Amino acid sequence: MNPIMEARELSYSYPGTKVQALHDLNLKIPEGTKTAICGHNGSGKSTFFLQAIGIHRPTKGHLAWKGSPLQYDRNALKQLRQQVGLVFQDPEQQIILNTPLEDISYGLRNAGVSEQEINKRAEHVLTSMGIQHLAETPIHHLSLGQKKRVALAGVLVLEPKLLLLDEPTAYLDRQSEQQLIEELDRIHQQGITVVMATHDMNLAYAWADWILVMDKGRCVREGTPYEVFSREEELKSLGLEQPMLLELWNAIPEFVRQGKDAPRDVTGFKRFLETNRSLLFTN
Ligand SMILES: Nc1ncnc2c1ncn2[C@@H]1O[C@H](COP(=O)(O)OP(=O)(O)OP(=O)(O)O)[C@@H](O)[C@H]1O
Ligand SMILES: [Mg+2]
Repeated sequence: MNPIMEARELSYSYPGTKVQALHDLNLKIPEGTKTAICGHNGSGKSTFFLQAIGIHRPTKGHLAWKGSPLQYDRNALKQLRQQVGLVFQDPEQQIILNTPLEDISYGLRNAGVSEQEINKRAEHVLTSMGIQHLAETPIHHLSLGQKKRVALAGVLVLEPKLLLLDEPTAYLDRQSEQQLIEELDRIHQQGITVVMATHDMNLAYAWADWILVMDKGRCVREGTPYEVFSREEELKSLGLEQPMLLELWNAIPEFVRQGKDAPRDVTGFKRFLETNRSLLFTN
């Protein structure tokens, strides 16, 4: 599959530091996928995202958007950011206006969308994020999880071609996480490539169809969730844990698993147990 965004031999050090936050990074985001980027603290996930929307310029190498190297003049960056949306790890960096409704409408107004359309889209995204009741509440009265949802809504509403989410589920409760995943699936079905940096291996395994693993500013693994997460020792050496469902899957006798795909979610796992009851439980 064609990469929608690609890093080629990309290196970057933050000003005043010697550490290479990205170190000869080669990484491809396949177009049309739901990709999860995994990696321990400091492996370079957020730095890559900031590079992807042109906030920082590489010290070496380059990024390519749909095959063309990024340009850093004002116009080119404006166009890039209409197509690539980033939800920051920290919502405080993202929200600029006083209420969720104002903040969410701002990007649409900037993009020249009509007031009628703004109202419609803002209302939809507020509802899908479960924050319609907070639409007019001052931002500084919101909890961190609520702010996170406002920041997400402000980017989702712009419907970019490539959506980058930095730890989108941090601070979200189960219900909000579920709402977010449903919204992301809806957006993905419209043909948008969705990329999520996450520490939640269970979520990455269940949600993504492509996994990238970063370590020390490089991309060290890529593959399907099963390909990447089935190698337990390798994951450990990269400071990552195996998804719980795969750990349980590996505890099932091999003759029962043989020839079958590992379930991706609890429902699939329960179905597997039910179907193979006679093999697993002999009396
Ligand atoms: N603003 C900054 N100034 C200097 N160094 C930074 C800055 N932000 C990140 N770094 C360094 O860059 C490297 C990569 O950090 P980055 O934030 O990209 O990692 P990450 O994978 O997103 O980590 P986390 O999982 O903790 O979010 C780290 O060594 C970090 O110390
Ligand atoms: Mg980060």
